[in-house]
Amino acid sequence: MQLFNYLPVALLAYATGIAAAPDHDSGDHSSATDGDSADFTPAVNCRNDICYSAVVPEATASSDSGPIWFQIYAPTKFAWVALGTGSTMSDANMFIIYQDGDGNVTLSHRQASGHTMPQVPANSPVTTTLLPGTGVSDGFMVANFRCDNCTTWKSGESLDFSSAGTPMIGAWQEGDPLDSTDVEARIGKHTGSPRIFSLDLSSAIKATAGNPFVDDFAVPEEANDGGSEDADAEDDSAGDGADGESAGVGRSSLVSGGVAAAAMMMGFSLLM
Ligand SMILES: *[C@@H]1O[C@H](CO)[C@@H](O)[C@H](O)[C@H]1NC(C)=O
Ligand SMILES: *[C@@H]1O[C@H](CO)[C@@H](O)[C@H](O)[C@H]1NC(C)=O
Repeated sequence: MQLFNYLPVALLAYATGIAAAPDHDSGDHSSATDGDSADFTPAVNCRNDICYSAVVPEATASSDSGPIWFQIYAPTKFAWVALGTGSTMSDANMFIIYQDGDGNVTLSHRQASGHTMPQVPANSPVTTTLLPGTGVSDGFMVANFRCDNCTTWKSGESLDFSSAGTPMIGAWQEGDPLDSTDVEARIGKHTGSPRIFSLDLSSAIKATAGNPFVDDFAVPEEANDGGSEDADAEDDSAGDGADGESAGVGRSSLVSGGVAAAAMMMGFSLLM
């Protein structure tokens, strides 16, 4: 059955843990990390250049409700890339990103009630908001988003902000860009097996509000697992690189973090 080809099915079927889907905080776009980048560290899972990150606002962690921030970072050789939260398939939250055809990404929140193609739920309290730093650049797509009302879901599961290992699921499909702004775009069968992993949400608590995936944390450090082919990128960006690279940010700057990452963000800003 065609339906079985869909990501959510496989993802959730394999999931065996809790659901962990941090949400992002407010739409506060301030570059809070500029001044206090040391007060938190995102929870990150990176492999083969596909990275999933989460940051939990302190207020959300302490009250078990409120926004959570997520980042999905992946090469554009994938038609779509998804992050799923939840240990069971039913009604878990899935966040699927794909290119919108105009230099940005579409974020589609979906759920599946069983072994069916995940759908955009009709009456979900979940809301997602794409934040600055989101975009497509030089072979990578990045979605920084805040998710509201993602801490619990219908099946009774919830995110565990005190756990060092909250179960998550990742999946993707290699292929041509969907180039769609439709959140209900059809997605094809995932490539290979889903990635079952966990995020240490307990270590990803951020005291202040605002998009955490800027500046120092614009790109997960672990994304550099291919080796730092351009270790000088950081220095370059510190100089005149900010403007010069904005038109075409290279992978070297995407993965070098720090100043280079900040330069990348500036590039996105110019595009806005
Ligand atoms: C992509 O869209 C988000 C949400 O509107 C925005 O914040 C971001 O700056 C956009 N990125 C680019 C490269 O235009
Ligand atoms: C969803 O989140 C918003 C913003 O945090 C909040 O105001 C609202 O009460 C929440 N709705 C539900 C159903 O939890």
